[in-house]
Amino acid sequence: MLNICVCVSGGGTNLQAIIDGIAKGTITNTKIAAVISNNKGAYALERAKQNGIPAVCVSPKDYESRDIFNDALLDTVKSFQPDLVVLAGFLVNVPGKMVQEYKNRIINIHPSLIPSFCGVGYYGLKVHEAALARGVKVTGATVHVVDDGTDTGPILLQKAVCVQEGDTPKVLQQRVMEEAEWKILPMAIDMIANGKLLK
Ligand code: GAR
Repeated sequence: MLNICVCVSGGGTNLQAIIDGIAKGTITNTKIAAVISNNKGAYALERAKQNGIPAVCVSPKDYESRDIFNDALLDTVKSFQPDLVVLAGFLVNVPGKMVQEYKNRIINIHPSLIPSFCGVGYYGLKVHEAALARGVKVTGATVHVVDDGTDTGPILLQKAVCVQEGDTPKVLQQRVMEEAEWKILPMAIDMIANGKLLK
């Protein structure tokens, strides 16, 4: 059984896709040990509670320094003894110590086809604003392993999504979630849980 911690910051629709995948059996051999948010107001925490999953907030606002927050975040993750840490819309730089401790065992979903529209400053709606500003006709989402850089780790899965005439960033964001993110993140977890990825 793959024990996972899901780290979130906001609405948690990717978390919901994982919860639904486990319930429907499209993700097998997997248990969500905990949902961890850096943001007290994240609706993702509600989703966790509604599904009987331990939900914890570790907010940088509650710590005197970034280093102390980073240690608290790592301690919290470690307390759930995960085999895999899943960043599902987690908008915090993962501390270097955590990357070391969970080398090749942290994955992230990013809402573009890496290496386009990724790296520092590209998160959430900003990614889709940039894609539309550049005029790309195809975008998508990427699941990758987290390393010391921002969106630089090995790519595991990608799915393309067409841009349509008249798309706004919000409309495009929703289509990328529906057609790509909510499919490839659960798929990656199922593959890892069943020895088909990150062996
Ligand atoms: C998702 O689109 C995810 O890909 C993105 O934040 C959103 C979170 O939505 N992540 C990043 O931009 C990371 N660089 P959710 O809370 O509804 O899952």
